[in-house]
Amino acid sequence: MRRNLIAGNWKMNKTAAEGVALARELKDKLSGQCCCCNGPQVLVCPPFTTAAAVAAELKDSCILVGAQNIHWADNGAFTGELSGAMLKDLPVGWVIIGHSERRQYFGETDETVNKRTKAALKHGLHPIVCIGELLAEREANQTNAVLEKQVRGALAGFTVAEMATVVVAYEPVWAIGTGKVASNEQAQEAHAFIRSLLVTLFGTDVAGATRILYGGSMNAQNAAGLLAQPDIDGGLIGGAALKAADFATIVAAAK
Ligand code: 13P
Repeated sequence: MRRNLIAGNWKMNKTAAEGVALARELKDKLSGQCCCCNGPQVLVCPPFTTAAAVAAELKDSCILVGAQNIHWADNGAFTGELSGAMLKDLPVGWVIIGHSERRQYFGETDETVNKRTKAALKHGLHPIVCIGELLAEREANQTNAVLEKQVRGALAGFTVAEMATVVVAYEPVWAIGTGKVASNEQAQEAHAFIRSLLVTLFGTDVAGATRILYGGSMNAQNAAGLLAQPDIDGGLIGGAALKAADFATIVAAAK
């Protein structure tokens, strides 16, 4: 039985003070309804500069805190990047890797996603590895080929044991920030395909245990339908994660 994970990707939003206020509101709204025992795991991923204050605010709650990127090296001349040890300093326990915005605007490739994911595991962080096709790729019937390339590239060289902490997020690029959500059927079909790839690469036990999150315009209205799909094990939420009430509704839908 896979436990749902509801993760908020705050992207480049919220200063430390704003992030603490959102975290506090979230904590209030979720008290009693999540997430320590039976409910879904709940995670927020603020910007680096906000994460420490948010982690302090959420210290005694069951809401987890993550980051939005990690470098593969332990230290060195990599201006603007942060290492695994630095993330643990914040402290965070999770990290989003290979988000389509990083692929689109910052030159992230399957190879760098692979290196960053390896670094996350080396530092005991839980990676959320993002994959997803562009609209043009979907329209050209290339969705499965793109997903296969991304999964094989991102997870190349991983052992079955390492896969135990890896979470995959399917985020169709055309659905991110557009309000154009994938239908329940489209999302389920992609998730089932990703799981079948995991069977091929790592066997049925790993494939059966790996959580695959859906991301892309998930909100308080459409979450229940998506989360009811057999191969959707949670959500990676952007815009709706910035509103405590909406995020709490999504968490409730994941029970
Ligand atoms: P939206 O929920 O704003 O579409 O963003 C999804 C996303 O990119 C989460 O990582």
